[in-house]
Amino acid sequence: MPHRLASKLILALALIVLIVKTFAMYINVTSQEARLLESMTLGADQLSRSITSATWQMMLADRRDAAYSVMHTIALKQGIDRIRMFNKDGELMFSTVPEERILVDKRAEVCNPCHSSSKPLVKVDVPNRARTFRDLDGRRKMAMITPIYNEPSCSNAPCHAHPASVSVLGVLDLGINLSRVDQEIASIRARTLGLGLVEVVLIGIFAVFFTRHFVETPIQRLIDGTRAISDMKLDQPITIHSSVELEELSHSLNVMRERLQAAMAEKAQFTQRLESKVEERTAQLRAAQQKLIQTDRLASLGQLAASVAHEINNPVSGVLNLAMLMQRILKDDGIPPGRVDEFRRYLGQVATETTRVGRIVSDLLSFSRRSKPQSAEADLNAIVTTTTSLVSHKLDLAGVAVDLDLADGLPAIRCDASQIQQVVMNLVLNGTESIRGGGRITVRTRTAANAAAVVLEVADTGAGIPPELVSKIFDPFFTTKEEGKGVGLGLAVVYGIVNAHGGEIEVATRLGEGSAFRVTLPLRPPEPAPPIAEARGGT
Ligand SMILES: Nc1ncnc2c1ncn2[C@@H]1O[C@H](COP(=O)(O)OP(=O)(O)OP(=O)(O)O)[C@@H](O)[C@H]1O
Ligand SMILES: [Mg+2]
Repeated sequence: MPHRLASKLILALALIVLIVKTFAMYINVTSQEARLLESMTLGADQLSRSITSATWQMMLADRRDAAYSVMHTIALKQGIDRIRMFNKDGELMFSTVPEERILVDKRAEVCNPCHSSSKPLVKVDVPNRARTFRDLDGRRKMAMITPIYNEPSCSNAPCHAHPASVSVLGVLDLGINLSRVDQEIASIRARTLGLGLVEVVLIGIFAVFFTRHFVETPIQRLIDGTRAISDMKLDQPITIHSSVELEELSHSLNVMRERLQAAMAEKAQFTQRLESKVEERTAQLRAAQQKLIQTDRLASLGQLAASVAHEINNPVSGVLNLAMLMQRILKDDGIPPGRVDEFRRYLGQVATETTRVGRIVSDLLSFSRRSKPQSAEADLNAIVTTTTSLVSHKLDLAGVAVDLDLADGLPAIRCDASQIQQVVMNLVLNGTESIRGGGRITVRTRTAANAAAVVLEVADTGAGIPPELVSKIFDPFFTTKEEGKGVGLGLAVVYGIVNAHGGEIEVATRLGEGSAFRVTLPLRPPEPAPPIAEARGGT
């Protein structure tokens, strides 16, 4: 069974036309056949009557030969197969076929129209007296039996009187060849069939054209149109004028398409607005984050100041002492020859101490420098060393020892070194603050298992973090420190910096045993970290 609607329609139409046409042709042919046979029957009856009338006078005068000769002459007429005459006992009296000699059995089927009852019928209507059959050669024939009635002139005739009580003297049996009728019927059939076929083909062609033009093409257009809509190609209108219904449907689809187009345009506008809003807000967030980082940096700087002041104070007072010593050695005429080495040693110590002060000051400067965020290759081990040395005094004061376990051959990472420095410092300071009465902080670096990142771990032997607080420690302004001692920005800033570098931070902690913060930083951030807007204001 075909699946296309047009094919189904055409097939159904063709089937209906074929059935109706076949039935009509059958009725037409059979009725024409019946009419032809009817007119043949009437013709045969008329001919039979004419024969009996033509031979009446001769029979009355008992001139049988003359009567038979008339019948022969008539029989020669084309189409008449034979003329026979039977007497009332069924005995063949005359036949145009000379060799025929028969005695008819009145119970035979051909005699049924008159002799079916015990008393033979005298009057039988025309159709019942005619019969058709096929001869031995298979040709169709029609036979018409016409009774020859006893008339007063016959019963009174001097020759051979028939008693008046006898009503039928015999029958005339006329045989007609139906070959011409059959030919006519065959030609009617052929003509009807031919015409019928032409009609079916014409109707079929019309059905195909009609279905294509009014059904298939517009439906295909509708399908193409709806496909275009589903592919979101909304600028292709559907135009159909083949029928009111399909035109209405296409109109509805067009309205739907236009509304969808308008909705899409609105959505695009909305998305654009949303995107610019998101961009605006993101910029504001970045600015806020940068501000946080700067704020935290200032706080850290404050903490450092005390530590660094002490660090600087020692070498500076050492230099002062050495200067005083050297002043004492130096006489008006120069350095006494025996003390030149001693003087030189003091000078060397002055150089060492001032170098130390210079290094501390430069470290401090590098931490406090408010530079624009920048991405450059940096050595994580160097960042760790510098940062821990900056806070060493604070750690000493807290009785905390620092172990540096730095991996050899650590690959350089692309980062903002000052921000990573801030991460190390915050983690180390948090660890220090969690230790009461002395402890140890271990700072480890190593290459990640996949070799595409480095890992920084800051572990302490401090108090640990209560499990219910672990999820909050990265929130801005979350602190467990006493009022005024901490702002709770350290870990929030650490999280922001690590995130901006495409890294991750996780914490493992056990109450009473300590905590370990692990920062994983990719060697190359997936995308260059979007530059964090420089904080407005502040130092
Ligand atoms: N190593 C650690 N051991 C135990 N608790 C920690 C550790 N690091 C952070 N915490 C907990 O997380 C809280 C938040 O830390 P964060 O660094 O954000 O703020 P803070 O240290 O309290 O204050 P700030 O760093 O701003 O001076 C701390 O108050 C502390 O309770
Ligand atoms: Mg902190």
